[in-house]
Amino acid sequence: MNVQQRARERCQWLPDLEQASGPRYKALVELMAADIALGVLEPGARLPPQRLLADALGVTVGTITRAYREAERRGLVEARVGSGTRVRSQTDNRPHFHHLTRAGDDSIDLSLSIPIPTFRREQQLALSLQQIATQPQAINTALSYQPEQGCLDQRQQLCRWLETQGLALSPEELILTEGGQHADFLALQALIKPGEAVASAALTYPGMIAAARQLGLKHLGVGTDAEGIRPDLLERLCQQQRIRLLYLMPEYNNPTGHSMSEARRQAIVEVARRHDMLLLEDGVQFVPPQARGTPMHELAPERAMYIFSVSKLLAGGLRFGALRAPANLLPQLRAALRAQCWSSPALMGAVTCQWLTSGEADELLAWQWDEIRHRQALVRELLAPYEVSAHACGFHAWLRLPEGRRAAEFVQLADTQGVTLIAAEPFCVGSQPAPQAVRLCVTPPPTREALAEGLKRVRRLLDDEPPVPAPLL
Ligand SMILES: Cc1ncc(COP(=O)(O)O)c(C=O)c1O
Repeated sequence: MNVQQRARERCQWLPDLEQASGPRYKALVELMAADIALGVLEPGARLPPQRLLADALGVTVGTITRAYREAERRGLVEARVGSGTRVRSQTDNRPHFHHLTRAGDDSIDLSLSIPIPTFRREQQLALSLQQIATQPQAINTALSYQPEQGCLDQRQQLCRWLETQGLALSPEELILTEGGQHADFLALQALIKPGEAVASAALTYPGMIAAARQLGLKHLGVGTDAEGIRPDLLERLCQQQRIRLLYLMPEYNNPTGHSMSEARRQAIVEVARRHDMLLLEDGVQFVPPQARGTPMHELAPERAMYIFSVSKLLAGGLRFGALRAPANLLPQLRAALRAQCWSSPALMGAVTCQWLTSGEADELLAWQWDEIRHRQALVRELLAPYEVSAHACGFHAWLRLPEGRRAAEFVQLADTQGVTLIAAEPFCVGSQPAPQAVRLCVTPPPTREALAEGLKRVRRLLDDEPPVPAPLL
């Protein structure tokens, strides 16, 4: 056996450099990134020692050193003295995806995806609480244990309201949850075993990333185009390994703003059926009925779940949501919810249903949609011609920074100008390198004027030359 054969036998990771074109070190980094995305190289996995890999691939040690350095620069791996080079762990120091607004902070917050602040919410909640207090039946329900799926009457009320929003759901297929994040976690916990694989767009809602990580699931990112998840890449991934569930936001992806056409949804369903994969549609970033496409559970009722929440409509503090699931999955979901919390609190359900069905919520929503449309128009107007993608009724916009700008630095610069933004990193699945982009939420400023001021400051930073890095001494 010659040196190369011996080295090949000892290498725990052996990429196929033969098929690759271009500079060897770059090709090696690309192969590494692909294997990390596919989960072939798992977080924390140790890469082969440089000399060993060089011998195994028949290249110089310099090529491997350069590749490892480039991979480190791209955030794929980390090198530690004494323990070699390892794939970056997912439990590393990623920025926290969600912060709470700091009291007394007068900066313009464009980082949080929250409903637009208005005194009407306080007024309407107070009214709903008063109404509940006068209804003995509602008080009694709030004091009693409920079935795991939640109070039937509340599920019926919710379904009637959802129907006015163009969503046909039946109370029997709904489980009431403590918001959208709870529904996400519940579906993963009940239906996917630790170590099994789930997939989503490569850039996705950080709460999903956190839930999959917490549950010890393998979370793989799928490449996207202007319509979101690409069915061909999903198909390829499914051929390589068993994917149990695909998490998706077809109306518009948080954070990239991509919306799926009807044809794209159908293509995703076909892949899901071919590979017997569950679909988890997250509808928390709710859109009005006229702006909505066909939900996945109408296209594939046998495998698609749907998540609803009032967090973006009424208030995040209500912690009220619902999970729609096909009948055969309900027993597992019920059992998991029972183990977690028995059922979600009927009092919150009573307050929310009262608010939703009183007509007050509809007025509030009509105002909010109108306001959001105007705010999205402001983003387009004030940030053109920079590369922004967003849904016309979306809570946020996704801004790709011009060549040469780095998102982490941009966020810091914005902070010095009194604007809070969030960079791409918390949205990245696995160890995928983050694109140089930031998410701008249009809803936290109390007025359009405040949003416009924030956007103007961002615009000035975009127009400015990037700061020249200090020379290395
Ligand atoms: C896509 C998505 N899903 C779920 C959630 C969490 O929803 P909730 O606050 O109802 O738990 C959010 C919140 O931003 C979200 O954007």
